[in-house]
Formats: sequence, structure tokens, C-alpha cells
Amino acid sequence: MKIALGADHGGYELKRMLHGFLEEKGHAVLNMGTDGTASVDYPDHAERVAAAVAGGEADRGIMVCGSGVGACIAANKVPGARASVCHDTYSARQGVEHDDANVLCLGARIIGTHLAFELTSAFLEAKFSGEERHSRRLANVLAIERRY
Ligand code: RB5
Repeated sequence: MKIALGADHGGYELKRMLHGFLEEKGHAVLNMGTDGTASVDYPDHAERVAAAVAGGEADRGIMVCGSGVGACIAANKVPGARASVCHDTYSARQGVEHDDANVLCLGARIIGTHLAFELTSAFLEAKFSGEERHSRRLANVLAIERRY
């Protein structure tokens, strides 16, 4: 898969580890910065990740900040992005299967590297189920996006 990967300064170190992990698993990584620990603004990088996914340049996105929360709020402002903070593997997988989540947001100050790897695997291995009730709800979500 092609993965857009981004972070702010709080997430940079975990992003670096994730970059290696993703490549080791055979994924192509689109690096959306940041590439150091100097303070940056998470919306800039979250937007790049979300836009790459929404625009079809990447299949999925992963965005890391301190808590994952700010990145998630910013990413969801891009039409077509469906981002969620997931710090448990059930949600990371089910968010894709039921809700067609396409951006995983992680909080580097909350979770460790190995849990981040497991969350990433759960997220990337999952596929949208396409079941009628989930497709209907997804259509409802997209309709909200079009109303505003
Ligand atoms: C940056 O200090 C921090 O606010 C950011 O990484 C993130 O946690 C926001 O949600």
C-alpha cells in the first residue's frame, strides 16, 4: 500500500520508527514531514496527510502528534478524510471495517512504539466490509460533509 505518513514535533520520533516499520512490511511511504524535533504546527502536516489520501495519492494515512487529537481534528477538515485516534487494536481494525476510516492518528505521548506497530498493522490489514448497514451509514456521513 501507499501510506502518507506525517507528524508534528511531538510525533516525529514515533513517525521515524513507523517509517522503518512500514517499509519493512513492504509499504511505500509518502513522507509528509515533519523531519525533526523543532516545533511545528500539527494542522499543516495533518492536512498534507489527509489531502494525499482524499486525493488518491495515498491509499491510507497515518498522522502522529502528541495526543493524536489535534491531528485528528485537523485531518477531518479535509473532505474525504475519515480520521480517528485509535489506541486500541479493536478500534483501529473496526474503524476501517465499519466506518471506512482512512487516516489513523496516534499520540506519541500516550502509546509506545510496539503498540503503535500493532495499531498500524490492524489498521492497514483491515478492509471496509461494504455491508449494507455500514455503506448506508457511510453515505449518511458523506451527506453531512456535503451539507456544510
Ligand atoms: C504539541 O505540543 C501538541 O499540542 C500536539 O502534538 C498534539 O498533542 C495536539 O493534539
